[in-house]
Amino acid sequence: MSNDAVTVRVPGRVNLIGEWIDFSGGTVLPMPIRAEITLTRTANGTGTDVVRSAEFNSEARFDIDAPALRDWSDAIRGGLQAARAKGWISGGQDVSVRSDIPVGQGLSSSAATIVATLKASRPQSETDDVALAQAARRVENAFLGVPCGIMDQMAVAVGRRGHVLALDTRDCSFELVPLPEDWEIVVIQSGVQRELADGSYKARQLECKTAMDVLGTADLCHADPAEFAGLLDPVAKRVRHVWSEGQRSLAAIAALKARDRAAFGALMVESHQSLRDNMEVSLPVMDRMVEDALELGAVGARLTGAGFGGCIVALVAPERAGTWWAALQSRHPQIKRAD
Ligand code: GLA
Repeated sequence: MSNDAVTVRVPGRVNLIGEWIDFSGGTVLPMPIRAEITLTRTANGTGTDVVRSAEFNSEARFDIDAPALRDWSDAIRGGLQAARAKGWISGGQDVSVRSDIPVGQGLSSSAATIVATLKASRPQSETDDVALAQAARRVENAFLGVPCGIMDQMAVAVGRRGHVLALDTRDCSFELVPLPEDWEIVVIQSGVQRELADGSYKARQLECKTAMDVLGTADLCHADPAEFAGLLDPVAKRVRHVWSEGQRSLAAIAALKARDRAAFGALMVESHQSLRDNMEVSLPVMDRMVEDALELGAVGARLTGAGFGGCIVALVAPERAGTWWAALQSRHPQIKRAD
């Protein structure tokens, strides 16, 4: 165990397609964005963790076993507690973070913070990023109380810029597929904040869990749709989304590898419609942004992440991106790019 300061950088992520299926056997297609968190950790030889955030302009001290408080420090402290439980570090730590990943916009600032804390804490002999992502998910589930899947942690731990991570969430096997040069991915913040720990994520997840219990499988994406006949709404609608999104994301991998931009874009549009009508996680403002993005010439557009606010993602022809963005912004002055 070394007491030297360790600095790591971990990006946020955007999901291109495969939404709300990373805890039901689906394959998802996230990729890192440019925004990232820079985190520095040093052992301080006390029984106290001291965490500092440039964005929140805040410094806070906690007993090393202090529980989650639902504030910005939770992701760091949860990561430190997991790293101590693994024997990677011991005692109190000084941690400072600087990040330009927008918070509460569905770009995985929380997953990036936990992954960064673990990466800055592990010994050099530990190189398994998949195991690290799985440990980060446990922090999210058990410490922060968010019952999320594995997509975000894997995307930020093993993703590579300019590549789409085709991730099979059943076993974390993955492929990094280069994004074709004539595909521009634009990530657009709606300005509507959302909070995964506030209950809406859990409520939708519980409905999926009900379907899993009734059907006797956690792998809804690979279940036989004939078995869905007896389900009642809203559970039936959620399963309709999950199963169809599983099919769409597999088709999207084929379209990506064939460099078929139009086919990929059409799948994004279908994904949004299902998130709106079956999963019911969109908002009127997000629907309007998607409709306008398409009307102004995007090849595909959809909400990305858990929904209830956050971002939309659009696929655009690079030569049209500048004028397209200006036109979209004139219809939605509050939006910002986050890719
Ligand atoms: C959040 C969760 C992920 C995933 C998405 C929806 O980002 O953290 O695990 O479920 O929502 O696709």
